[in-house]
Amino acid sequence: MAPKRLKKNLKLGKVTVKDITQRTVAIIGQKGSGKTTAMRMMLREIDKLKIPSVMFDPTGAAVDADFFNARMSSDKETWPITLEVIDIAWNDRAPLVVDISDLNREDASEFAAMVFPHLLKKQDGVVVVDEIPDLTPQFGKFKSEELIRFNRKCRNRNIGFVFGTQRPASVSKDVLALADVLLIMRLAWPGDMEAVEKILKRKYGREEIDSTMQQISHFGAGEVYVVDFRTQG
Ligand SMILES: Nc1ncnc2c1ncn2[C@@H]1O[C@H](COP(=O)(O)OP(=O)(O)OP(=O)(O)O)[C@@H](O)[C@H]1O
Ligand SMILES: [Mg+2]
Repeated sequence: MAPKRLKKNLKLGKVTVKDITQRTVAIIGQKGSGKTTAMRMMLREIDKLKIPSVMFDPTGAAVDADFFNARMSSDKETWPITLEVIDIAWNDRAPLVVDISDLNREDASEFAAMVFPHLLKKQDGVVVVDEIPDLTPQFGKFKSEELIRFNRKCRNRNIGFVFGTQRPASVSKDVLALADVLLIMRLAWPGDMEAVEKILKRKYGREEIDSTMQQISHFGAGEVYVVDFRTQG
């Protein structure tokens, strides 16, 4: 008999994401809308659920005294040590922030190609990526194979995937379409609003979308609109 899969619901203020280790969550919002803060809150809540989490932070803003933090250097000889740190934190179920703000775009991309296949060897946890186009610079133009593969396969490993972006218009449509939960924070730029409207069309009619977008454009920091494609309403 297959072992029983660990099931956990993530609570984030008024928001609940059911069965987080089975979901792909996109956090979309303009600069300063509260994405990174929401992700740090998530790590705290995931810690309470006693499941592992690792966050990749291209901005250096998520580093938090409450979590283990690993700062990546451009010296590639040190990278295997980071994988070991990830393994230890994962096994100990300790939230870990991997700060990749010192990596240039090329190195960040190479690091992603190394770390995502490594993470697919794990199970029962959550992987978070802030400002996803920074980690995979080719993201907007063409697919990042390792990341797409991770996103497709992580559910089999009971690993949830959370990613954030301030520019949904610059994220590949294929990747956004893989998200089954959207946490939409303040958005104002028309191109980004359009990108989000296109996704909302999968679930809502014109009038509902117009009034939702109107609300979102007036959100303050930390306000969020939740769209769950797996539930009705
Ligand atoms: N839930 C919240 N309630 C009140 N204030 C918040 C909340 N979330 C974030 N803020 C405030 O908004 C500001 C921006 O938050 P944060 O850095 O998380 O946004 P961001 O979307 O990650 O921005 P950036 O795109 O610049 O990385 C911070 O100063 C923070 O204190
Ligand atoms: Mg941020």
